[in-house]
Amino acid sequence: MAGKRTFTMIKPDAVADGNMGAILSMIEKAGFKVIAMKYTQLSQAQAGKFYEVHKERPFYGELVDYMSSGPIVAAILEKDNAVEDFRTLIGATNPADAAEGTIRKLYAKSIGENAVHGSDSDENAAIEGNFYFSECERF
Ligand code: CMP
Repeated sequence: MAGKRTFTMIKPDAVADGNMGAILSMIEKAGFKVIAMKYTQLSQAQAGKFYEVHKERPFYGELVDYMSSGPIVAAILEKDNAVEDFRTLIGATNPADAAEGTIRKLYAKSIGENAVHGSDSDENAAIEGNFYFSECERF
């Protein structure tokens, strides 16, 4: 059965460009409830740990530098079928492939600076949410 929660980050490019409010508005209008939220900046070590699954990829260094380059918004979101529906809302990883009207089509610059992160499974949604939030930070 599909889970009810996913995890997102609004990435440094989208925050720096002043798109944080517009992206949060799209998320709420799509029916996601905010369970936890934090405005913060990752250190290089934290970004490296968050994206550890990509450690062997050629873009890992670039990804860690970028994700620690400025503030981000991290959030746990709730909705039926959360992981899949959120990935539909944000669109393909590469904005060149993202469908019209998706967050990445509207706001992402490139495959690296792609405006938002969305968990790819229920298991990773739980791991990623736990990375940022304690139980008493969830509502
Ligand atoms: P995200 O959904 O946060 O998960 C992993 C991230 O790695 C992905 O979004 C992209 O920002 C980044 N990424 C994936 N492929 C590439 C690539 N070929 N070059 C640079 N960054 C990439």
